[in-house]
Amino acid sequence: MKPKVFITRKIPQEIVEKIEAVCSVEMWEQEEIPIPREILLTKIQDIDGLFCLLTETIDEELLSNAKNLKVVSNMAVGYNNIDIEAAKQRGVIITNTPGVLTETTADLTFALLMATSRRLFEASSYLRNGEWRTWSPMQLTGQDIFEATIGIVGMGRIGEAVARRAKGFDMKVLYHNRNQKPEVEDMIGVEYVELDQLLQQSDFVVILTPYSKETVDLISERELSFMKPTAVLINTARGGIVNEEALYNALRDKKIWAAGIDVFETEPVQLDHPLLTLPNVVVLPHIGSASIKTRLKMAELAADNLIKGVTNQTPDHVVE
Ligand code: DGY
Repeated sequence: MKPKVFITRKIPQEIVEKIEAVCSVEMWEQEEIPIPREILLTKIQDIDGLFCLLTETIDEELLSNAKNLKVVSNMAVGYNNIDIEAAKQRGVIITNTPGVLTETTADLTFALLMATSRRLFEASSYLRNGEWRTWSPMQLTGQDIFEATIGIVGMGRIGEAVARRAKGFDMKVLYHNRNQKPEVEDMIGVEYVELDQLLQQSDFVVILTPYSKETVDLISERELSFMKPTAVLINTARGGIVNEEALYNALRDKKIWAAGIDVFETEPVQLDHPLLTLPNVVVLPHIGSASIKTRLKMAELAADNLIKGVTNQTPDHVVE
């Protein structure tokens, strides 16, 4: 008998077929509506493998409902939606999709940095709203990117890819990371500094660290107070690493110049969220890895992890 798996969102047919070659598949067929929790709680009961997204909370309550579950394959590199300890205790393997989204997420991070510092969305609305009457010297002026200093918080794969892009703009690249990385320093030409120093010296602060107990509110009122009044903060990692209330206050009071945010503490962000009222904030709906090629690669990798997990092989990307 084929192992039973459940897929929590409509994914490309070719990936479904790949999984169907080995497994008996059931899928939540909606693209834009996440599976209701009570349905997932039922579906989990007799499956061997779960293919899920970062929108599903995989916690003790859910895991305790699963009798046969061997593997949870998360179609994301981040896995803060999953209680890893609870899964370990139950012998459930958790997998993720690192590597395949690195360059795409770095592209988006840099695009957001550029859009925020050069006020692209504001300028586009200005034109569309009929406010463009003439060219004038200081109209819609932003911050320069070339030769500026960028501070990358979290020098993992995506941090390195952003650093490489920054070097192309002749930027000075500072970084802060749990561990210093001499090989990356030599290879790309980046400089390790303490977090406070990075905040004080950078024109752009880019958050790329994983979400964990240690990184919740890593950037809060105190840290924002170190930043330059001309500085731009970019977060394409996870909401909650930057405290949103503190960020709102800093932007409102012009303690920092602007922010570009792809990720929020609660997603989707509510339309009455205070950050959305500020003109110096560019907001995106968590699209860091959203290129057609990359999302297909992520789905494929998640499928491979799932198949290996339910057929008693060790998946390539087990979260430890
Ligand atoms: C991830 O993979 O963790 C991103 O946030 C979505 O691609």
